[in-house]
Amino acid sequence: MELTIEQEPFGQAPDGTPLSLYTLRNRSGMVVRITNYGGIVTELHVPDKHGNLADVCCGFESPEPYFKDSPYFGALIGRYGNRIAKGSFELDGKRIQLGVNNGPNHLHGGEQGFHRVVWQAVPVVGDLSIGLKLSYLSKDGEQGYPGNLEVSVHYELNDANELLVRYHAVTDQATPVNLTHHAYFNLAGHGSVLGHELVINADRFVPIDAEAIPLGALASVEDTPFDFRSPHTVGERIDDGHEQLANGGGYDHCYVLNKPESAMLSLAAVLREPESGRVLELYTQEPGIQFYSGNFLDGSLTGKGWQYGYRGALCLEPQHFPDSPNRPDFPNTILRPGETYATRSLYRFAAQS
Ligand code: BGC
Repeated sequence: MELTIEQEPFGQAPDGTPLSLYTLRNRSGMVVRITNYGGIVTELHVPDKHGNLADVCCGFESPEPYFKDSPYFGALIGRYGNRIAKGSFELDGKRIQLGVNNGPNHLHGGEQGFHRVVWQAVPVVGDLSIGLKLSYLSKDGEQGYPGNLEVSVHYELNDANELLVRYHAVTDQATPVNLTHHAYFNLAGHGSVLGHELVINADRFVPIDAEAIPLGALASVEDTPFDFRSPHTVGERIDDGHEQLANGGGYDHCYVLNKPESAMLSLAAVLREPESGRVLELYTQEPGIQFYSGNFLDGSLTGKGWQYGYRGALCLEPQHFPDSPNRPDFPNTILRPGETYATRSLYRFAAQS
């Protein structure tokens, strides 16, 4: 048996560009489907403790729902994942105005962010892994961002049920870059995620206002419902009235990861679904992880035979902190000509009885 990748047609983009769907299979039964529209992972089949596969991510069977309704299901996000207040910031003495698409703020790269562009896709076949390399040229001025940004994202699946995502970008003008992946997980395959157990390796998080824009200082998770340093179910404290949970409508916060060394791929979060025994370990090089508990899912979307209900899936998005271009106190997100943006995140799936 071999690691395989197959390509099939997946309709066409709104501008008529033919789309493809790639199916990656490893030798442990895991199946990942990825389309070159938005670099979206549409399906992710992983075994439970009995070896039974379930599709553990939200998505659709056809491309059309991704064109407008999808809340970034499974997509690549850029140029800037998360929010930039009022879509505005100063860069080298010049005020930049991005498009606003989330109330008065800029979210996930804008209306036509990287989740809504067609990527060039090249399968990469190796002995130990099977991959898909996606490339995109984001032109100067796109969604208001300065500079031509050449981006590539490389998905790689191996037999240890690990999906590695590697991001690269170079630019010809200074520009903010904060790429991430927006998978919505439900390790049971459907139902509520409130019973999932979560660990997040973070002593601090980024408090937000009612528009989900960061407030002044970072806050300690100690003695709050944000403390996931030891396992807690997602639902245990989500409705306990904490002001920050009210601002997010639940968890919708960036955690400041505890890191042995900033550039290392380190364990950020562990998600476990007790009945199936499925476990997701997430490793990243990024300084933060946005934990979003699916608070805006409301049952109005259906895909792959599953209705996406309130808190029916959750996101763990490795990234830099929100609104960093306006926050000199946060780690830098400005990429300059001559520099290379390079970061990696690894999703390791396992099952425990
Ligand atoms: C954000 C949420 C947002 C969701 C998109 C998440 O990354 O944190 O506030 O609603 O993306 O639907």
